[in-house]
Amino acid sequence: MMLLGTQKINNKGHLEIGGCDTVDLAKEFATPLYVMDEELIRSNAKKYIQGIKSNYPDADIAYASKAFIVVQMCKLAKEEGLWIDVASAGELYTAKIAGFDMNKVLFHGNFKSDMELQMACDEGVFAVVCDSFSEIDKLDSIAKSKAIIQNVLIRCNPGVDPHTHSMIATGQEDSKFGFNIKSGDAMLAIKKIISKNNLNLIGLHSHLGSQLLEENPFEECAPIMADFFATVIKETGLDLKVLDLGGGLGVRYLEEHKPMPIDDFTKMIASNVKGAFNAKGLKLPKLILEPGRSIVGEAGTTLYTCGEPKVCHLKDGDKTYLPVDGGLSDNPRPALYDSQYTELIANKANLDKDTVYTVSGKHCETDKLFINVKLQKAECGDILAVQTTGAYNHAMASNYNRFTRPAVIFVKDGKAKMVYRRETLEDLIKCDL
Ligand code: LLP
Repeated sequence: MMLLGTQKINNKGHLEIGGCDTVDLAKEFATPLYVMDEELIRSNAKKYIQGIKSNYPDADIAYASKAFIVVQMCKLAKEEGLWIDVASAGELYTAKIAGFDMNKVLFHGNFKSDMELQMACDEGVFAVVCDSFSEIDKLDSIAKSKAIIQNVLIRCNPGVDPHTHSMIATGQEDSKFGFNIKSGDAMLAIKKIISKNNLNLIGLHSHLGSQLLEENPFEECAPIMADFFATVIKETGLDLKVLDLGGGLGVRYLEEHKPMPIDDFTKMIASNVKGAFNAKGLKLPKLILEPGRSIVGEAGTTLYTCGEPKVCHLKDGDKTYLPVDGGLSDNPRPALYDSQYTELIANKANLDKDTVYTVSGKHCETDKLFINVKLQKAECGDILAVQTTGAYNHAMASNYNRFTRPAVIFVKDGKAKMVYRRETLEDLIKCDL
């Protein structure tokens, strides 16, 4: 059985998280419900910060807020000493409301709007990560109009295949992200920035992709970036100070997934960067990493109430659908990326998983969540717990079929704290005119 973070099976045979019985949580807060293991989020954050700083003192960890962002998550990030990476005005606004220090915010996006660039300048973010030639022009003129010098990084495409699902691979040659290093575009972008009076290039950024379970892509990337650092310094005389290597470390969705532990990962990155920069005789830059999924992914569990199992008698045997009271709108990842998860019946967690189901959602379409998965024998009213839903679930949730987004609660030491209330029917018509 895959138990993550503080998860355990209690003496009632129920799944418990953060000292809270999930069956009681489902009763108290209703379902669907996102339950976040606060202790696990905090311990992942600490592992990242301690892991990197003990191997590479001039380093910071910028939490990729796209994975899961609510005001309380930004507050937690602040308390733990994380920086934040935002990729939209909405994420920046949420961080601002949480009182996040804007000098620890990186602003991303492959097609930022004028409003977003204005906002990044007004808020005084640490750096805007530029991703197109026209953005460089726009940002410079916005900075000029505000009489400021804006720090920027450029997003480089290192041309490394990250070996992950095509929808979440970004660092390979064929990508909408970044200026390609090999084609010369990255150098052109750098020269363009240098020609601008109101932009200050402080470093380079790259991000390979997400849910990476192999070390090789990360190992390939550091020497490419060090090499490019050396070329830039030689050709332009610029004093580049920052190397941001993005995020990407994978998590356990299935028992067989074996991502590198965070301590080993930070150690490996630090040693790759030191090795690559030393080999080029370069002084070590400030290092930034941007993990999202590996901080919050395993900390999340979604609770659903099961409906009545429905048996289809097919030519090649019976198939049983197990409906749950959520689906595509609270977790679009199976439909988008064929993502698989581990699930169990929370109120029968001590029983054997001896029955095969196809878990389906309650949307008006065939939203199969989990196909042919083994579960404890399910009945109407049981609570289904889906593990590893902390990243890119609440963040990607929608109101399809005018479903209200579920509540999110943080659980720790036997207490539950709501951090996102369940949306109401009134919320749904708030923008209707
Ligand atoms: N930095 C940048 C510039 C990124 O684009 C991303 C993710 C990250 C950091 C964080 O990557 P992580 O550590 O979470 O792997 N919706 C997809 C994932 C998209 C990730 C996009 N960028 C999914 O549900 O799998």
